[in-house]
Amino acid sequence: MLKSLIVYYSLEGNVELLTKYTANLLGSDVMELVPVKPYPTGRISKYISGRAAMAHETPELREYPLDPDDYDVIIIGTPVWASNPAPPVNTFMTTTDLSEKRVALIVSSKSGNGEKCIAQMEKMLGRKADVVFNVKEPKEADQNQLVEETAAFARDVIGPYDTGEEWELYDADENKEDIKMHRGQPIPDGHYHKIVSVWIKNSEGKFLISKRSAQKIVSPSTWECTGGAVDTGESTLDAAVREVKEELGIDLDPETGKLVRQTRHDDMHEFYDVWLFEKDVDIEDLTLQEEEVADVRWMTKEDVEELWEKNEFNVLLYYYDEIM
Ligand SMILES: Cc1cc2nc3c(=O)[nH]c(=O)nc-3n(C[C@H](O)[C@H](O)[C@H](O)COP(=O)(O)O)c2cc1C
Repeated sequence: MLKSLIVYYSLEGNVELLTKYTANLLGSDVMELVPVKPYPTGRISKYISGRAAMAHETPELREYPLDPDDYDVIIIGTPVWASNPAPPVNTFMTTTDLSEKRVALIVSSKSGNGEKCIAQMEKMLGRKADVVFNVKEPKEADQNQLVEETAAFARDVIGPYDTGEEWELYDADENKEDIKMHRGQPIPDGHYHKIVSVWIKNSEGKFLISKRSAQKIVSPSTWECTGGAVDTGESTLDAAVREVKEELGIDLDPETGKLVRQTRHDDMHEFYDVWLFEKDVDIEDLTLQEEEVADVRWMTKEDVEELWEKNEFNVLLYYYDEIM
């Protein structure tokens, strides 16, 4: 698995929010760049900070707690200041050897026009970045859409892989096509595969929440409900029942499943069905699939909210309060 480090500067929290979602999806370590002399917030100081960015200043930074040399992938996040990266990012990029690294850029701006800033970062890098995420004011954006766009970015950072698992593709109207692909291969625009999530609720109103194994490529070690991809020939209900059996050893009665959410994610090329089952099971009686699941617990909505705050709940399940 690729080891990734997110290095970022954020004055007002927008870039920080993107780093939070990205770290959740990629299991990245995160390092904030802290200038020895902080940049002030406020209107007039914006002018001074903007000039510093235009002059490509390289301010002194506090010592790094992590060593970029220890990572395969470096993701660099910056706000756009006067069409340029924020100066702390200049210091990092001009003093760190990134020549052997896969490099991704996260650029956040008020206008959404991050192109000049990206060009300046690529100039410092001495080449094109491997992946670029150019975002308009993330804190104000629709969070559902933002999570989906961040997931598509994270998928591009990981790059193509092939687990050999076969996916059937569908068109935008959910008609099955005569095309099959393997998981991890890039799906062309206008084509979709299907995935499911399965929420299990007990008679106390608690939900069965499991922890993904640390070996997972996407969202390692985050907590979530059970889910997975729909295999060839399956309905999403078939897949829901099979995934829960495989990962937790629970036999669900398909007759009792309720389809509670149906969405299409264009950025991620997927139809996403969410199934809800009511069932009482004893945690002791479960058989966890080791490669997939590290732990499992019955949780209240408050428990999940706490995990969300700590960035330990799978961000792809951002809609959890609709279900719980
Ligand atoms: C000094 C300064 C200069 C800025 N210049 C630009 C700009 O040229 N174009 C733009 O679209 N946004 C500009 N912005 C807005 C920020 O890029 C945007 O709000 C960004 O999302 C802030 O990220 P942060 O909250 O992580 O600091 C500027 C903000 C500051 C503080």
